[in-house]
Amino acid sequence: MTSYKLALIPGDGIGVDVIDAAMKVMHSAAARFGFALAPETFPWSCDFYLRTGTMMPADGIETLRGFDAIYLGAVGWPETVADSVSLHGLLLPIRKAFDQYANIRPHRLLAGVEGPLKASEFDILCIRENTEGEYSGAGGRVHQGKPNEVAVETSVFTRVGVERILRFGFEQARARRKHLTSVTKSNAQKYSMVFWDDVTRELSAEYPDVTVSQMHIDAMAAKMVMAPQDLDVVVASNLFGDILTDLGAAIQGGLGFAASANICPDRSSPSMFEPVHGSAPDIAGKNIANPIAAIWSGAQMLDHLGEGEAAAAVLSAIEAATAQGIGTRPGQNTTDEITAAVCAALEA
Ligand code: NAD
Ligand code: IPM
Ligand code: MN
Repeated sequence: MTSYKLALIPGDGIGVDVIDAAMKVMHSAAARFGFALAPETFPWSCDFYLRTGTMMPADGIETLRGFDAIYLGAVGWPETVADSVSLHGLLLPIRKAFDQYANIRPHRLLAGVEGPLKASEFDILCIRENTEGEYSGAGGRVHQGKPNEVAVETSVFTRVGVERILRFGFEQARARRKHLTSVTKSNAQKYSMVFWDDVTRELSAEYPDVTVSQMHIDAMAAKMVMAPQDLDVVVASNLFGDILTDLGAAIQGGLGFAASANICPDRSSPSMFEPVHGSAPDIAGKNIANPIAAIWSGAQMLDHLGEGEAAAAVLSAIEAATAQGIGTRPGQNTTDEITAAVCAALEA
């Protein structure tokens, strides 16, 4: 029987709640489809930081390299550890070290879930650049605390980085409704975003079967709300993709629905699967977090591992639960109830 080695990093807050819930569904899928999951849990988190002084051990990345996939809950507990420390000590280095440059974030309305928009057609795939751009980490502050203080945060866009994410987007568009929207702010940012627009135009010649729109991030935000049915695959830089995918989650009905896969496409390193949402300190440990985003991310993981049938069954099971009205509105069901409904649908 095939067995997959999973590194579990539940992390902080509801990360722990949703990974615990989602693993029940993953085991149930494994049993039904005849494969095994061998999870190992790593307690790397803000608590770990407070005990040890680091978010993960010095050999953390090397340890993770030996796994087939990484399944992460959420990182961050700003009350005790600054986000600039926790995220730059765990989540962001993993994405970068494993060259997980394609962050795939699907947004669609699940059966039975009413989003805030009147439009019932909402099915987009956001491809977010995940290793460079505005998240390069380059910059600094001088004259800290003084009236002449200056802070600089440098965005880095490379031809390799921009080409590969756009190419990834074009390939995804080919497999869907053959439309790609490339998002920039090239009317205000005259180097990086004009460069991104140039590369989009160059590549579009290689994909004549895909229609391309180039939009500015501000107009794009409005379009996602006003006319989401015109969108299919959306490709955006690291920061713009981050913002658009919380908007996408909101249109889906809430952050508890939005899944995400951090993919290393050439498979030279493990990929990482995690919900779009964070640790939600306001609802942590109360058994009320929606685990659907984490479960859906788990379905992306199964698909990536080559268990496409199991992945599809997990997605159907999520929708069987929501179609019955389970987990469709915040606070309506507990985390346990939603998990049990998905497991029951999967086993039916
Ligand atoms: P958040 O996503 O944690 O929460 C925003 C709002 O959405 C909260 O009201 C929360 O209760 C709600 N929410 C989120 N997930 C939910 C779910 N599954 N079910 C029901 N409601 C849900 O964003 P935030 O408050 O800005 O961030 C909290 C912490 O998480 C910060 O430290 C932040 O940096 C971190 N964060 C981590 C990740 C990650 O690890 N991938 C992602 C985003 C934020
Ligand atoms: C996400 C998160 C992270 C990001 C933060 C926590 C660094 O918001 O995965 O969407 O911006 O990538
Ligand atoms: Mn985000």
